[in-house]
Amino acid sequence: MTTTAPHAVTTRLSLPSTRQDPWWRTAVVYQIYVRSFHDSTGTGTGDLGGLLQRLPYLRRLGVDAIWLSPFYPSPQYDHGYDIADYHDVDPRFGDLDMMSRVIARAHALGLRVLADIVPNHCSIEHPWFKAALAGAPGSPERALFHFADGRGPEGAEPPNNWRSIFGGSSWARTTADDGTPGQWYLHSFAPEQADFNWADPRVGDYFDSVLRFWLDLGVDGFRIDVAHGLHKQQGLPDDPHAALDEITGDPVNSAAWNRPEVHDVWRRWRALTDEYERRDGRARVLVGEIGVLNPRQVALYQRPDELHQSFFFEFLRTEWDSAAFHDVICRGLEAVTAAGSAVSWVLNNHDMPRAVTRYAGGEPGGQPGDTALGERRARAALLMMLALPGSVYLYQGEELGLAEVVDLPTSALQDPMYHRSGGARRGRDGCRVPLPWHGSAPTYGFTDATAAWLPQPHWFSSYGAAEQDLRGESTLNLYRAALALRSAIPDLRDGGLVWDEVPDTPDGVLSFRRGGLLCTVNCGPSPVPAPHGATLLLSSAPEPSGDKQPAESAAWWVV
Ligand code: NOJ
Repeated sequence: MTTTAPHAVTTRLSLPSTRQDPWWRTAVVYQIYVRSFHDSTGTGTGDLGGLLQRLPYLRRLGVDAIWLSPFYPSPQYDHGYDIADYHDVDPRFGDLDMMSRVIARAHALGLRVLADIVPNHCSIEHPWFKAALAGAPGSPERALFHFADGRGPEGAEPPNNWRSIFGGSSWARTTADDGTPGQWYLHSFAPEQADFNWADPRVGDYFDSVLRFWLDLGVDGFRIDVAHGLHKQQGLPDDPHAALDEITGDPVNSAAWNRPEVHDVWRRWRALTDEYERRDGRARVLVGEIGVLNPRQVALYQRPDELHQSFFFEFLRTEWDSAAFHDVICRGLEAVTAAGSAVSWVLNNHDMPRAVTRYAGGEPGGQPGDTALGERRARAALLMMLALPGSVYLYQGEELGLAEVVDLPTSALQDPMYHRSGGARRGRDGCRVPLPWHGSAPTYGFTDATAAWLPQPHWFSSYGAAEQDLRGESTLNLYRAALALRSAIPDLRDGGLVWDEVPDTPDGVLSFRRGGLLCTVNCGPSPVPAPHGATLLLSSAPEPSGDKQPAESAAWWVV
């Protein structure tokens, strides 16, 4: 067996894409959680100026595009997923001019830019909601949201039995200036996030203008929050399964989620982005967060006249197990390709415990688990994911091999999920801790302030990007090598996947081919023989050697 050093970094400073082969089908998109990426103003919170400074880092990492979590003016009850003004930038993060600079610089570096858009709900500080509160029951202002009278004596009970994803009823009661209790309004998440009434045509028109505003500023598309939400069943009936929304945190209530009418919204948005695409030839992309559990249902959102992509979240729920991976990959490819689109694979995002910790057997608020093992597995899972047909969404910090920060002090926790569930659900702060850039003590180059907005753990000192840059076998360098190879080898992007049916494939090993490239994932605890006659291109294990594939590792081979 021979090994090849993966130094074949290609230079792609143009933004190539055609209508037949749009860039997003095979793109690697990197999620920026702006408040935790890099702080350029010394506030302890990341901002767009910090992102601007770090764009060359992302270019060198080798991703194709970035997706920015919400940067709009917001009271930040749910870290920006509660938008008060859809046409501006929160002063905490910068301003429109800074956003334009980020877009221009990103484009100059060959990176596309996706904005996060939140159409299911807005902040209670949005002018429309303020007007609705000031308006009378039944007024046109209230018709933009879901206001209803309560049930029971004095209307003291919520209008129906729906439960919020973050815990508690999904209704909050209004109070008049004189203290009299009034109508209730619907909030599928926190009470500070009021659900729009998409049955009112003014809502659709408004979002058309929002999309145009950001497309005119130069963004290349949108990540759509809760894209299975928006429309509710007329009459807002009780649902026998509504309580499961709160218990599982999944959208199970069929009166509140995944309504057939929502597909009309996506057809309308697709027509709008197609219009921009026809005008200047630049492919735009709409990627939906579809929190629906059935992959076939998810695939419906990706029909040719709807969203270009939707996240395929199954890996986030899958244990470290070769048979389980096989199953998930088959289901993803089958469902999504049947819809005529490509799968968008995800191992990490800002809502889930980091893969290192999931594979380590740790959990937020509990034990960290065996994080060395978790990191080893997460590196392998990356090579597996990057070798699959379709696109890939990465979440900031995974390229550094970061684990979840499981032991944040409860006094530091900010996630409404933690607070709304009375502490029963730990929430998502542990994957949102500001990144370590360099150095051996907080704030690890993240900010000039004395502390970052969430405390950073001491073990970040071994994970700084600058230090990893110098270590050949670091996770950062593995990501760079894998991304460079993925962009340089057409077989990794084009064509389908063929499972390797070699009868002597060892137990616990997953093996598939993409043209002349073979990917093997050894999920077992022992080394296995290398595939016969194959040349190693890249291994996730820091110590590839001889003719064995190390335990808990993935490898790419030329066959
Ligand atoms: C999904 C987002 O990813 C999550 O962070 C947010 O809390 C909810 N949608 C509500 O907007």
